[in-house]
Amino acid sequence: MSTVLIVGSGGREHAVARKLRENPSIGMIYILPGNAGIARDSECAPIECVNISATDLDGIESFAKDRDVDFAVVTPDDPLCMGLVDRLEGIEIPAFGPTRAAALIEGSKSFAKDLMRRYDIPTAAYQIFDRVGDALDYIRRSPLPVVIKADGLALGKGVVVAQSLNEAEEAIRACMLDNRFGAAGQRVVVEEFLQGIEASLLLFSDGEHYRLMPAAMDHKRAFDGDSGPNTGGMGTIAPHPMVTPDELNRIEREIVQPTLAAMREEGRPFKGCLFVGLMLTSGGPKVIEYNCRFGDPEAQSVLALLDSDLFDIMIAVHDGTLDKADVRFSGGAACCVVAASGGYPGEYRKGLPIKPEDFSLLTKQLKDVKIDCAGVAYSADGSGGLITSGGRVLGVTATAGTLPDAISRAYTAIDEISFQGMRYRADIGTRTLESALAEAVHG
Ligand code: AMP
Ligand code: GLY
Repeated sequence: MSTVLIVGSGGREHAVARKLRENPSIGMIYILPGNAGIARDSECAPIECVNISATDLDGIESFAKDRDVDFAVVTPDDPLCMGLVDRLEGIEIPAFGPTRAAALIEGSKSFAKDLMRRYDIPTAAYQIFDRVGDALDYIRRSPLPVVIKADGLALGKGVVVAQSLNEAEEAIRACMLDNRFGAAGQRVVVEEFLQGIEASLLLFSDGEHYRLMPAAMDHKRAFDGDSGPNTGGMGTIAPHPMVTPDELNRIEREIVQPTLAAMREEGRPFKGCLFVGLMLTSGGPKVIEYNCRFGDPEAQSVLALLDSDLFDIMIAVHDGTLDKADVRFSGGAACCVVAASGGYPGEYRKGLPIKPEDFSLLTKQLKDVKIDCAGVAYSADGSGGLITSGGRVLGVTATAGTLPDAISRAYTAIDEISFQGMRYRADIGTRTLESALAEAVHG
């Protein structure tokens, strides 16, 4: 039996843990740090959440050695960019995820942009700045809107789409003078604004071979109709209705293959899950960003459609045998709706009791529904009940033969869950349904 360690604590890690559990050769799963919702999920058992932070590389390394971990799965950006996979491989613990050198594709936007420029991969036009005066001069001459990005990791908050010169100047000053993102914002990328439809394409890569997952659509804005501030993601659907087979072919040819080849060429072969954030523009698909990991909540939708064994795939990614691996997805559709704390992504209250006490009854009753916990903790009264502890509290993911059915199943399920101030978007996937409908009507 294999002992597996998962690093991370969100809904994405919950989905990964549940999917790994389908492999009968896995014994114990340790998740560092995990959360109470994962610890309590019988579909993940036996699983133990261990209170070691995902960025405590020393702690993770010594825990893994101590417990004779056979395989590690690292999914969050921070530990990947800090080199956790290199550390684990260094003590002969095989791990799923890119090395530090390959994770730079997410860890430095200027690295990613220069890579795309060198290898002719379509992306927004850009300039890189290390001096605030130069950046300010440049944006004063740029058309609006203009996009300002902190170079390094900034908890998903490092991007500003500025509609006015004032907003653009404020974003640059916040990054470069006020150090809002610390060292991550000392360098900024100023980018052309791309118009179009966004898509998230995730793929497995062993450095040499790759296998695509169904494209997903994230809903990043906090409120219905894509309004309000940016969030980590309020819901996803997969497959993405606008990524047709022809479009996917083009993305593979113009973006996926050249990116993986470029990383090999640069001596940074990418192993793990590569996330390509795309804008489908009138001039063809363009890269908005790369992430070196599964998206959250993209993983919840996409992994719900995976028919094959995730552990076998992860081992093949590690071993470089992905060309021989069984990687199949169901022909159906998935929808994930995130329940967030009132106020998120701004200030919000924590410690609010979540109902029902036991999700397993709910998921038994409702067909093809999974609940992935993120900002969830045990209540302090020792009852074993769950309380809120974060902005994105949980996600409900449903699968069905068709997208409308998946959406309606997800909403039926989320209506059974409640906590004070709970908020979710009521329009996950519906905009795409409307445009598909319009296309059908107008040809
Ligand atoms: P990121 O944090 O890099 O995922 O960016 C957050 C969001 O900003 C993206 O999901 C897009 O909606 C938007 N964005 C980033 N870059 C651009 C761009 N060049 N043009 C238009 N929108 C962008
Ligand atoms: N949902 C977007 C991300 O994981 O970065």
